[in-house]
Amino acid sequence: MAEQHTKSERLRRHLVDVIDQGLEPHSKLPTERDLAVEFEVSRLTVRRALDRLEHEGLVYRVQGAGTFVAAPRITKSVELTSFSEDMRTRGLEPGSSVLVTETIPAGARLGAKLRVSPSDDVFHIRRARTADGEPMALEDSYLNPRLFPGLIDNVGGESLYRILETEYGMRIEWAEQSVHASVLEPEQAELLDAPPFSPAFFVSRTSYDAQDRAVEYAESTYRGDRYHYEFKIHRSR
Ligand code: GLP
Repeated sequence: MAEQHTKSERLRRHLVDVIDQGLEPHSKLPTERDLAVEFEVSRLTVRRALDRLEHEGLVYRVQGAGTFVAAPRITKSVELTSFSEDMRTRGLEPGSSVLVTETIPAGARLGAKLRVSPSDDVFHIRRARTADGEPMALEDSYLNPRLFPGLIDNVGGESLYRILETEYGMRIEWAEQSVHASVLEPEQAELLDAPPFSPAFFVSRTSYDAQDRAVEYAESTYRGDRYHYEFKIHRSR
């Protein structure tokens, strides 16, 4: 048993090296049978190695077609950037389709986030975000209509942060953000073109301007197979 683990681990590392050395995303790996013959191991050993690579998001399988190299993940640094900025940094063209625009009563939870009373109205904008046309995230943004009159009729495919800056002179200066692991509900999975219940990051962010006014509260669900988070951390004294 242990022997088989060692062999599959060795094969896994070899495949990681081959992928890192420049296999193009979506290129096909040799079949399980060919790998077994080439590395003189059993099919079970090959399957173990591929299972781990799949869990790590380095490859994906298509039933009946084989195993393919996955596209690299988007690096999300923990800086105060917009979705559009993150995509442009990666050389990808950001896009969005607006799924919902509505005005709803804040209620207690959103009221507390946006510092308005529960009976006040808030704007809700739901967007599917894309990179070079590929769905990446779903974002629900809530904003205070008193700060952004008419905003709801202005949102289209372009950057929300840009509209806030250019149309309303509102610059977001800081934010509180939390991230937790999640899975895509079937309805979200369909919108994101991913399998139901596949892993996701759930990110909530309350953004403030320089006067500490709550500008936006947003809940975003990012595809877990297309993102990773990167931190610069400092040792505390
Ligand atoms: C990030 C934030 C959202 C914000 C969005 C704005 O994704 N988590 O809170 O709404 O950026 O992005 P853009 O300016 O591209 O619309």
